[in-house]
Amino acid sequence: MSKPIVFSGAQPTGQLTLGNYLGALRQWTRMQEDHDCIFCVVDLHALTVRQDPAIFRERILDLAALYLACGIDPDKSVIFIQSHVPAHAELAWLLSTFTMMGELDRMTQFKDKARSHAHNVNAGLYTYPVLMAADILLYGTHRVPVGEDQKQHLELSRDVAVRFNGLHGPVFVVPEPLVTGGGAARIKDLQEPTKKMSKSVESDLAKVMILDTPDAILKKFKKAVTDGLGVISDDEANQPGVVNLLNIWRAARNASMEEALAHFSHNMYGKLKVETAEAVIALLDPVRNRFNELRSDPAELEGILNRGANQALERAEGMMKRVMTALGLPLHAGRFGGLGGK
Ligand code: TYM
Repeated sequence: MSKPIVFSGAQPTGQLTLGNYLGALRQWTRMQEDHDCIFCVVDLHALTVRQDPAIFRERILDLAALYLACGIDPDKSVIFIQSHVPAHAELAWLLSTFTMMGELDRMTQFKDKARSHAHNVNAGLYTYPVLMAADILLYGTHRVPVGEDQKQHLELSRDVAVRFNGLHGPVFVVPEPLVTGGGAARIKDLQEPTKKMSKSVESDLAKVMILDTPDAILKKFKKAVTDGLGVISDDEANQPGVVNLLNIWRAARNASMEEALAHFSHNMYGKLKVETAEAVIALLDPVRNRFNELRSDPAELEGILNRGANQALERAEGMMKRVMTALGLPLHAGRFGGLGGK
């Protein structure tokens, strides 16, 4: 029996955070054995905010290297850059005609971004979830591992797939979200622990980056905001900072909340902060070392990305042929070998 297909991606908008690592990338690497995995650097999505071309190009390659450094194995999984496969943008257009304005109006990430990027509320920011649906549906994806913040976008992908299939037959697989467990679904900001840890937040102390040095990681955790209650509990409403640290510690150590509470009972916040930092440093040290090796060998990285793009292109073309046929679009003979039609 063939393995279930997994697709996921992250945006090359600066370095990735510990939230991206625990909420997404680490889970991806764990799925490689028993799933047919496709991991994408979603550079087209990142264009919805302004990018400096020279920096952007480096960030895209950095992110691909980071996927590999985190343990994505190109012999087991497909790893590629979104803009290398034109079918993503092409399918996004076709799917936009099956997506309702009202659905896009309801996307909370769009509302947040429209507020924080009020000077540049472009149409791409609005149709962003359609491109995400195209990414996923293009490969017949069964499961999409993501952090909690992407759940609403996934719901839309499912709705669009169901709507298309209802009108044109069973072309798309309806994908299932796979939200990370073990406290890692929504790692919070270290300074404002009611918000998710996000790479786009200004403050350096608020976010731990995957490539941070051990000293920087320790400093950030020591300065993490907690509260004045002086107890260590899992009462998130009253102790969001403490619960975030417990969630990070247990995600890094693969422990349950019960184990975390037992471990830290009778301790002060100082120990919780330092031990959480140590657990994160132990986790990220090998990733940083491998990343530096990979980035010093551009030929190896280019070779891996070229192979990944070719694998993705081949798979995407099969789906485009089915979608275009279902919609009644004549197939380009030079691309698909004939005009198609029934
Ligand atoms: P992005 O680049 O914002 O984040 C990449 C992944 O990291 C997860 N994540 C978190 N998980 C836990 N705690 C956090 N604080 C945290 N911050 C981020 C995200 O949920 C995500 O899984 N739209 C997507 C990229 C995308 C995509 C796709 C994902 C484009 N096409 C198709 C899956 C399938 C995004 O902006 O992720």
